Formats: sequence, C-alpha cells, structure tokens
Amino acid sequence: ELSPIDKAKFVAAKRAADFVEDGMRVGLGTGSTAAWLVRCLGERVREEGLRMRGIPTSSRTAHLAREVGIDVISLDEAKWLDLTIDGADEFNGDLNLIKGGGGALLQEKIVATASDQMIVIADIGKEVEHLGAFPLPVEMVPFGWQTTQALVEETLISMDVLGNNSTLRMNGERPFVTDEGNYLLDLHLNRIGNPRQLSLVLNQMPGVVENGLFMDICDKVVIGFGDGRVEVRD
Ligand code: A5P
Repeated sequence: ELSPIDKAKFVAAKRAADFVEDGMRVGLGTGSTAAWLVRCLGERVREEGLRMRGIPTSSRTAHLAREVGIDVISLDEAKWLDLTIDGADEFNGDLNLIKGGGGALLQEKIVATASDQMIVIADIGKEVEHLGAFPLPVEMVPFGWQTTQALVEETLISMDVLGNNSTLRMNGERPFVTDEGNYLLDLHLNRIGNPRQLSLVLNQMPGVVENGLFMDICDKVVIGFGDGRVEVRD
C-alpha cells in the first residue's frame, strides 16, 4: 500500500508513460517520481513490446532503466529526442521549474533542451505561485569554488534576491560530486521576482556551469494527487 505522496507520484508517472509511442527516443529524468516513470515504461516494454530507447539523465537512472529492461543509449547516439519526462522540485503557473534537488540538473537540462517535448511529472505539493522557496541548485566547477560562491552571493545580494545564504551540497563529510564531477551550491532565496534574469546572471559567472531554473523548457505538467486523481496542464 502506497502512502498518499507516493501514490500521487505513481499516478502522475503512469499517466505520463502513456505519452510514449512506439519508436520514440525518450529522455528519462532523475528522482523518486522519475523512478516510477522508468518502472512504468519498463512494464510497457516487457508486456506490450513497446519499442523505445531511453536516454538517462543520471547514472542512477541509467542503472534503473537497464534493470527494468529499457534499451539505454547515450545522448550522442540519440542526437535528438522525441520526448523527455522528468520530475521537478517546483513548478509554477507558467510551467517554469526549479530542478536539481536530486543533483542531476546539468544532464537533465541538456537532455530536456534536446527534446521536442518535455513533460514534468509531479505531485500537487510541488506547485507554487512563485518559484524560490525550494533552494535553487547551482552547479559549479570545483576549481576555486569558494571564490565562485563569494561572487554568486555578492551579485545576488546586490540584486536583492539572496535571502539567507548559500550552502555547499554535502555528502557526509565531503562535498557532493555530480555525475559531471562538479559541486552544487544551494541558494536560499526569497521569492524569485525575475527568474529569467536570475538564470542568465548566474550562468554568466565564470565557474558556474548551470543552474536549476528551467525556463520555457517544459510543455506539460502531469500532476498527481494523493487520492489517485491526475490533472494535466499545458
Ligand atoms: C533531480 O536532479 C531533480 O531535478 C528531480 O527531478 C527533482 O529533485 C524531483 O525529485 P523527486 O521526484 O524525488 O521529488
């Protein structure tokens, strides 16, 4: 028996899995909701003989996809994708997102951007009026990361968007290292008044590789509720 939150994630994932058609190249997201999607697609491959190739957005997802019987190929082999389905940490009414809570934002953004369509799957708890309550992840190269952090903080304070501070994502005693060998800075912000501008400003800084704001990338959000209902927004 699933908890209401897991049920919400599962029903959203299950509905989104129905958008996958025979022959598609599909970007596979990362996180607990995306893991449900990968399992649902594995079931369709095994039971209906669905032919699809999956392009994972993390080593974790690659492992799970192979385990459930999905044909896994790299983004370079696929070159272009029909569809990406991924979770999110927040989505707003414009279908803009914060992602990266699971640490995979860089591959996720590259894969989603290379797709004709991106569908987000989320429980209703991820909906927000304004992005920014969830700490915004920023991926940065390890070289000089403290200098990069200082630059980020100084800039955001001058823009009046930094609430508290920023923290280096840890994995026990050591910095968390992404699949691309980078570090993550989590920005504790006030509500983000202008996410488009913030995203551009962050990505201009040397040392910053990418940030977790996904602007104009998502086409559809499939929302799951704890009672099993599903709502599609586009
Ligand atoms: C991974 O890097 C994130 O972008 C995830 O998509 C996000 O953290 C959602 O994860 P859950 O589905 O586990 O909430």
